[in-house]
This record gives sequence, structure tokens and C-alpha cells, in this order.
Amino acid sequence: MTDKGVFITLEGIDGCGKSTQAELLCAWLSNKLGEGKVLRTFEPGGWSGGEHLRILLLGKSIFTSRTELLLFLADRSGHIDTEISPALRKGQWVVCERYTDSTLAYQSWGRGISFEEMSVLLNWCRFPAPDLTILLEIDEETAKSRLKRRGKLDRIEDMEDDFIARVAWGYKELAERNPDRIIVVNAAPDIEQVAKNVREAVEKRLSNILSAKNKKPGKTRVQPQDKVLLVRKEQA
Ligand code: TYD
Repeated sequence: MTDKGVFITLEGIDGCGKSTQAELLCAWLSNKLGEGKVLRTFEPGGWSGGEHLRILLLGKSIFTSRTELLLFLADRSGHIDTEISPALRKGQWVVCERYTDSTLAYQSWGRGISFEEMSVLLNWCRFPAPDLTILLEIDEETAKSRLKRRGKLDRIEDMEDDFIARVAWGYKELAERNPDRIIVVNAAPDIEQVAKNVREAVEKRLSNILSAKNKKPGKTRVQPQDKVLLVRKEQA
């Protein structure tokens, strides 16, 4: 089996506008690539069966960090097996709201789980690596006021400000360590301006992504995101 498709992830702290931007990006890509070429999905819960995990993860149950991490990884495993990998093999473009960078930013920087422990799990999982990640960057105050306007906060959105600040810091570090994969887009301007910047980011990387794929015909994309993990380990 070959991975002919393109895998794009959207990341950022809660309230950064991911869902709106994912919708606009998918509409633009579908228009460009044609009907049925784009799969829009999300984590946690973007697969059949995943809705139970999403309810559990965002509900008010009390978890240890370990349980929370394992549930996010279990959700991703099902999501990849049933949705993401089949779509990539068919040559579709997959746009996924949140992925492994969320786990690194929230569970490692946010909750404090060590990278070493996480590396073991992630290396074993061998989740496919995204071709491109758009990090929607916004200051925590603006994000929080957007969330408040939206209404009731879920278990993670309701965490203390320090937690969100650590997550935001984690994302910043991940972007610095993975400049070839992660493009940072300022999410503060109005929706249309951000959407334009997202489209430009995708177009900028597109030719590189496609030519890298053409150079490796038939290569199955099963790479853990261990580049990030190894860098972190060396610096620890
Ligand atoms: P999200 O779907 O962005 O929430 P909403 O639909 O309300 O905007 O994400 C759900 C929450 O799960 C979010 O606070 C981030 C968190 N999360 C993790 O902590 N780790 C993970 O690996 C993932 C995928 C999400």
C-alpha cells in the first residue's frame, strides 16, 4: 500500500479558531482538487466509535494524566486505522484538527508527562507524520475571551491559566524545533485574513510536499514523530 495523499494538521490552543479555519481550508482545497478529494476530520473522536472517547475525554470525569494520555492515544489509533490511513492510501487530502502535537503540547508541556515516557509510547504507536502542520497562534487572553463568548467550557478548556500558558509555550517550542513541518500563522486578525494566510502557507509548502512524494514513489508513510521527541530528549 502507498500513501499518495497529503496529510495536513491544524493546531493551537483552545479558542484559536481551528474549526473555522479547517472548514475554510477544506472548502478551498475541495474547490481546487475536486469533489471527494478532501477528508476533514478532527481529534478527539473523529471516527466511528470515537464519539464515546470524546465524550469521556471532554466530560467531567476525573482522570490521572496517564489515563488521559492513553485515552487520547487510543482515540488516535482508531482514527488512523479507520479514517486517516485509508484516505491517504486512496490519495485524498486529509485535514485534521489536532493530532500528535496536541498530545505533546497538552499532555507533556501542560500536564508535565515526561518526553521520555511519551517517546516510548509514540514510537511504539508509529502514527503517520503530517506533511504540514499549521499552528494558529493567538495570545491566551484573546483565546479565552472567544471561548467565554462560545459558552460552557469543557474539562480541558476549564483548566487554570497556567496550564494554557504552558501549552502555548509547548506549541512555540514544537514550531521552533520543526520548522520544516510546522508553519505558524497569526490567528489574531479577522477570519478571512487568517484563512488567506493559511492558504498561502499551504501553497508555499505544496510544491515541496508533492515533489518529496514523487521522489519516493510507493514509500509507505509510517514514521513516528520521533524527530521532535529525540530533539527534546537530547536537550533534556
Ligand atoms: P477541541 O476539539 O479543540 O475542542 P473544541 O471542539 O471544544 O474546540 O479539543 C478538545 C480538547 O482536547 C482540547 O482542549 C485539547 C485537548 N487535547 C489534548 O489534551 N490532547 C490531545 O492529544 C488532543 C487531540 C486534544
